[in-house]
Amino acid sequence: MQAILIGFMGSGKTTVGQLLAAQTGTAHADLDDLIVSSAGQAITTIFAEKGEGYFRQLEQQTLRAALQQPGILSTGGGTPTIAANAAILTASAVPVILLDASDETTLQRVMGDANRPLVNNLDTGALLSLKHRREPLYEAAADLVISTDTLTPQQIVTTIQDWL
Ligand code: S3P
Repeated sequence: MQAILIGFMGSGKTTVGQLLAAQTGTAHADLDDLIVSSAGQAITTIFAEKGEGYFRQLEQQTLRAALQQPGILSTGGGTPTIAANAAILTASAVPVILLDASDETTLQRVMGDANRPLVNNLDTGALLSLKHRREPLYEAAADLVISTDTLTPQQIVTTIQDWL
């Protein structure tokens, strides 16, 4: 991989990753999509039928494999908050870019999204506490932090390209 995007749910990892890949002429991979393809089940189904622990095992295996491929990788919101995954990211030496969004923006983007099990299972307060608990872990994993609230996806991509 040439760059890895991390951040909480709704931070724009997939949108920005696809655009960045298109504009740099490289491939884009979305870790959640890779997990869904290999498991043959939707993320919500994996969480409901096998539990989050099983999802995290698949996530770790899939992350290791994805890092062997070229391109831009958009991770899931929990990926770098698991110590083993953070170690894998560090060992890969691929630049890690954190897309940061405010609490308000995050809630506007994710509330009501039936494809996100943690959004389905947590109320607003619990979702924001999860976000706040994860923020130091995101920052520890990141080589570049971009505050995205007032930026368009294209402006974010330009910021990344200038930095890379
Ligand atoms: C998760 C975020 C999701 C997905 C799974 C768990 C999390 O990815 O990996 O539902 O723990 O925050 P997105 O950030 O792409 O929604």
